[in-house]
Amino acid sequence: MQVEYVLRTNGLTKKYKDRTAVEGINISVKRGEIYGFLGQNGAGKTTTIRMIMGLIQPTSGQIELFGQKLEPRRRAPFERIGSMIEIPGFYPNLTAAENLDIHRRMMGMGNKESIEQSLEQAGLLEVRNKRVKSFSLGMKQRLGIARALLHHPELLILDEPTNGLDPAGIKEVRNLIMDLASKRNIAVLVSSHILSEVQQMATILGIIHNGTLVEEIEQEVLQMKNRHCMEFKVSNDRHAVMLLEQKLGIRDYSVPEPGIVRVFEQLSESAAINRTLVGNGVDVAEITMLRETLEDYFLSLTGGGRSA
Ligand SMILES: Nc1ncnc2c1ncn2[C@@H]1O[C@H](COP(=O)(O)OP(=O)(O)OP(=O)(O)O)[C@@H](O)[C@H]1O
Ligand SMILES: [Mg+2]
Repeated sequence: MQVEYVLRTNGLTKKYKDRTAVEGINISVKRGEIYGFLGQNGAGKTTTIRMIMGLIQPTSGQIELFGQKLEPRRRAPFERIGSMIEIPGFYPNLTAAENLDIHRRMMGMGNKESIEQSLEQAGLLEVRNKRVKSFSLGMKQRLGIARALLHHPELLILDEPTNGLDPAGIKEVRNLIMDLASKRNIAVLVSSHILSEVQQMATILGIIHNGTLVEEIEQEVLQMKNRHCMEFKVSNDRHAVMLLEQKLGIRDYSVPEPGIVRVFEQLSESAAINRTLVGNGVDVAEITMLRETLEDYFLSLTGGGRSA
């Protein structure tokens, strides 16, 4: 069966006069899938999303929506896409339902029933007649998602919907997104700069760094990345790695920083590995058993905590 993509980009690039914001981005989002778009501040998430939404013109590259190539100056099939980019603005003195109604009429889409429906989907039906100024940030974010759902989109594009939320708010938004994908088969492209916020809901995670997509990780691999290892603090990591390979046949290792070697196999053989290293001239100052988390991995791809 042919895979059905709702969104594909090919070599998507945006250059500004003095800098390249996004370069050669290839992402594909399938129906019912949650694509987590992860990257630090300034990585290029919003720029990518704005190009997909036709808000800015790509410098080069293509965008395909629902199998149709997006041509310059031709309207994108926005009736099939719902989006929330940046913090949604609402009239504070109007109720949730009134805000959605204004939006619906302004955009000329949806009907009265769709207001109730999308408020219900976002878990806001009970507060539909409350003024937005009394809403928490989490409720406003969900109202933003409700607004994006008004016209029953097949693709939902959410730029940092969990930004600034507390853990409970994050969980609410996450559950909502997961429900929309699993129960309504809506494809979701959701960006974040915090791994833990998208890790649990994404079916696939694309990591963007300095404008390029440095890695795409499928959910099954995401699970595997949280794995145990032995960490050796050594006097010479290059020599240590050579010994691991040649003397012990170890292939699954990493050097997360100079002088540190992590070994992911033969976990019960730390003493033997230690003997081999020491016996061949590599000093071992410390051996630690640990779990390399996805967080470590993400940081290793994006150059630690440093921002671009
Ligand atoms: N209009 C513009 N002119 C020049 N440079 C821009 C413009 N818009 C964005 N940039 C630059 O492009 C890069 C990517 O910005 P972008 O807003 O896409 O990042 P982001 O991943 O959304 O970051 P954040 O997490 O802070 O929202 C940044 O370095 C930014 O300064
Ligand atoms: Mg952004």
